[in-house]
Amino acid sequence: MMMFNNIYKNKKVLVTGHTGFKGSWLCLWLELLGAKVIGYSVDIPTKPSLFELIKPKCIDIRADIKDFKKLNSVIKKYKPEIIFHLAAQPLVRLSYKETLNTFNTNVIGTANVLETLKENKFVKAVVCITTDKVYLNNETGKPFKETDSLGGYDPYSASKAACEIVISSYRNSFFNLKDYKKTHNTLIASARAGNVIGGGDFAKDRLIPDFIKAVLSNKKLEIRSPKAIRPWQHVLEPISGYLMLGANLLKGKKEFAQSWNFGPEKKDIKTVEQIVKILCKNFNNAKYTVSKAKQPHEAHYLKLDISKAKKELKWVPRWNINNALNKIIDWTKAYQQKKDMRKVCVEQIETFWNKKI
Ligand SMILES: NC(=O)c1ccc[n+]([C@@H]2O[C@H](COP(=O)([O-])OP(=O)(O)OC[C@H]3O[C@@H](n4cnc5c(N)ncnc54)[C@H](O)[C@@H]3O)[C@@H](O)[C@H]2O)c1
Repeated sequence: MMMFNNIYKNKKVLVTGHTGFKGSWLCLWLELLGAKVIGYSVDIPTKPSLFELIKPKCIDIRADIKDFKKLNSVIKKYKPEIIFHLAAQPLVRLSYKETLNTFNTNVIGTANVLETLKENKFVKAVVCITTDKVYLNNETGKPFKETDSLGGYDPYSASKAACEIVISSYRNSFFNLKDYKKTHNTLIASARAGNVIGGGDFAKDRLIPDFIKAVLSNKKLEIRSPKAIRPWQHVLEPISGYLMLGANLLKGKKEFAQSWNFGPEKKDIKTVEQIVKILCKNFNNAKYTVSKAKQPHEAHYLKLDISKAKKELKWVPRWNINNALNKIIDWTKAYQQKKDMRKVCVEQIETFWNKKI
């Protein structure tokens, strides 16, 4: 597949969190681009999992991101030119229960990845995946720009905002852009994506996986915050953004070593209930109820301003919300019918990228 000017062909790429939902899609896409992928994850986070369904070709390492020595030895051994850092405890609700683990994995894990760069000079580019939840959210409904203040009410959001501070500290202190090609050769960027949806997400307490589990077991879906507004986007949208960003960093374009929002167009920012209604209609009018239980705090409004990525990176969302949901419905039906899911995912990546913009 000729994409990104073949920049990933034969490149050694380290993906942390490669066994997760987004990591599996990213590894498969990198495989199609001819990259040599080294994956580093502590476990496979769900059962079933997209990773086991599609088995992307990679060197598959199981180790903890908190283990600096191990991570450093893997990087030394395989010498990747670029790192996509996705490994994280990514769930807001779990972060209330596993708070220290969330901070350790997300913040120290990110610091560990960046610390390895000091002695492994062959790494040219790092794309750190944070989230749209890094912003100080006063619930005004205004879309966040990359320059807005960082914040974080719940532990997950706070941990990811802290990652952003760690990232800019390493960039300022050790990989400063004014010293690029003088004292170092590494460009570091961060990517903040919205609520990602797509086939193959089996995580707990996320809307689409919960819906699919309910449909597959003929149960009623229970939703928590029907009016909550989220920047829903198909998983291939931010992943295409990460790959575009990585390609620019690999080319040595230092103006890209900063933070980037990847989200949907304004018209595709919908409430939880609007999404559920579309899904229910497509699965024999499946039913849902709204939970009355008291819920831990989660943001109500979450919107991203994506004008910077559109203007400077020339990245644009390719599938609107209806297209994205249709792809998830197709994926789920293929999964129900026990089709070859690797083939289904490859087809979705190709259709996505070949769409004329
Ligand atoms: N899914 C979303 O809606 C969304 C939105 C914005 C940002 N993100 C971010 O994208 C990234 C990937 O999210 P996902 O949805 O694919 O999550 P996931 O739970 O499916 O995958 C998480 C991955 O991290 C690995 N991991 C967890 N703890 C680890 C540890 N201590 N050491 C090594 N590996 C560890 C897991 O093994 C797995 O491979 C995360 O950084 C997440 O915060 C996700």
